Amino acid sequence: MSAKFITLEGVDGAGKSTHLDWIAGRIEAAGQRVLVTREPGGTPLGEELRRLLLAQSMHLETETLLMFAARREHLQRVILPALAAGTWVLCDRFTDATYAYQGGGRGLDPGRIEILEHWVHQGLQPDLTLVFDLSVEEAKRRRLAATAAPDRFEQEGLEFFARVRSAYVARAARFPQRIRLIDASQTVEATRNILEELISSVCI
Ligand code: TYD
Repeated sequence: MSAKFITLEGVDGAGKSTHLDWIAGRIEAAGQRVLVTREPGGTPLGEELRRLLLAQSMHLETETLLMFAARREHLQRVILPALAAGTWVLCDRFTDATYAYQGGGRGLDPGRIEILEHWVHQGLQPDLTLVFDLSVEEAKRRRLAATAAPDRFEQEGLEFFARVRSAYVARAARFPQRIRLIDASQTVEATRNILEELISSVCI
């Protein structure tokens, strides 16, 4: 079986970080090597770009181009070599986040994002994308409980996150084979039961 590329998505506070290590453990328990990484970031240059992206105000197109610059570096140096070596890749956010945040949240024409996606992905797509879906009010409550110093994105208001959430839901409807919406309002245990089924279906 070839190595799989799995991405985790959702509005800030929906709980992907809570489930990330558990999913990695589940894949390892199925006998696969797994690399856990994140976007923006995942390489030394990508982490530098992340620092700027999360702190520094900038033009929306600049923000989008930097996300994709970090992504190209990440694909080239980390994701593609890992997959080629048979290691599964579990990535905390990927291009669906650009459609959701820069597209849905900030209103960038998705056609622009598509152009960059074609250029940067060169045909690669995740095998499975898990979108943790939660009301924006509950996500905010969880964020406030978990985050002492919110970054530039986490400081956005509820309307912004409502647009981000809608964009994720729309993408899940458009790509039902790849993207699975997970009801993240349940307990961690209940969510894990759903994840267990989804991960088993790709691990077999
Ligand atoms: P996040 O995974 O939420 O980091 P953490 O949980 O450590 O705070 O990601 C950081 C932020 O980057 C998040 O608010 C969404 C944003 N982001 C985009 O706006 N576009 C993108 O393409 C990506 C990958 C992330």
